[in-house]
Amino acid sequence: MASSTSENDRPKSGFPLKGGVQLLRALTPSQHAACCAVEDSAFTTEAHRATHEKLAYRISTPSAPSFGFFVPLQQGDSRYEFLTANIEKSRLDTLTTNVRRDDEDDGPVPYVLIAHLVSTMGTAPVVEDKDMAFPQNWRDMGADDTSELGHQKGGRTVCLHSLAVIPEVQGAGVGTAAVREYMREMSDGEVGDRVALLCQPELIGFYKKLGFEEKGESKAEFAGGNWTNMVAGIPKAENAPEVTQ
Ligand SMILES: CC(C)(COP(=O)(O)OP(=O)(O)OC[C@H]1O[C@@H](n2cnc3c(N)ncnc32)[C@H](O)[C@@H]1OP(=O)(O)O)[C@@H](O)C(=O)NCCC(=O)NCCS
Repeated sequence: MASSTSENDRPKSGFPLKGGVQLLRALTPSQHAACCAVEDSAFTTEAHRATHEKLAYRISTPSAPSFGFFVPLQQGDSRYEFLTANIEKSRLDTLTTNVRRDDEDDGPVPYVLIAHLVSTMGTAPVVEDKDMAFPQNWRDMGADDTSELGHQKGGRTVCLHSLAVIPEVQGAGVGTAAVREYMREMSDGEVGDRVALLCQPELIGFYKKLGFEEKGESKAEFAGGNWTNMVAGIPKAENAPEVTQ
């Protein structure tokens, strides 16, 4: 979204993605600082970033499908060695957060957030400006949740607002792996029918390779416009019931 570098000129990080387990997990409000660090460093154009308040809203809203892509902070893991060698300690501390794994009984363990996919649900077939916005009174527990802005509980379109990979590991396949895992995670059809996003022209090819279709120029005026609609159907698991809108 933010880069003007051509695809072939893009620097490729030596991050050893395939060095072991990586994990896609739902983001929680306690991971807000790590999310802000990912968002702020990935999007070099400030207007393309979600503000910290918007990120807090999106990751705190129950039923908004937002995920982090994590790697374990473990001695001997080649990814850990790479991250500690290439990321300043205070930044690594901010990106480090506790994550609970299904196969571990010992409680949450430290993981590093290297990418995130932050989304809300929408009612239109593509992402609109109202999906990108959020109700200013969202922290007010007594407020009604009938605002047309931001997350729509009954929506069937997953609006993917931020796909962000930390710059230190960009170009190593993390973005591709994270989107694939995210689509797989939602493939039971219960979350929604499609994933929609807005992208700048240079990323159309990236999303097409991941199964997205180009759906024309977006009417969204967010951050100056010039967005293309991209949409991918969420594959339904064989026995999942058909859901109608
Ligand atoms: C765009 C982004 C998510 C891609 O993640 P990544 O881990 O760097 O991408 P991958 O290593 O999986 O690259 C996959 C392919 O996409 C291409 N690609 C990635 N980012 C690109 C960019 N900004 N412009 C053009 N091509 C890009 C890569 O060159 C690679 O092509 P190849 O398969 O021919 O080698 C990541 O670079 C990022 O966070 N950028 C800043 C935030 C952003 O723009 N997010 C997208 C919002 S719509």
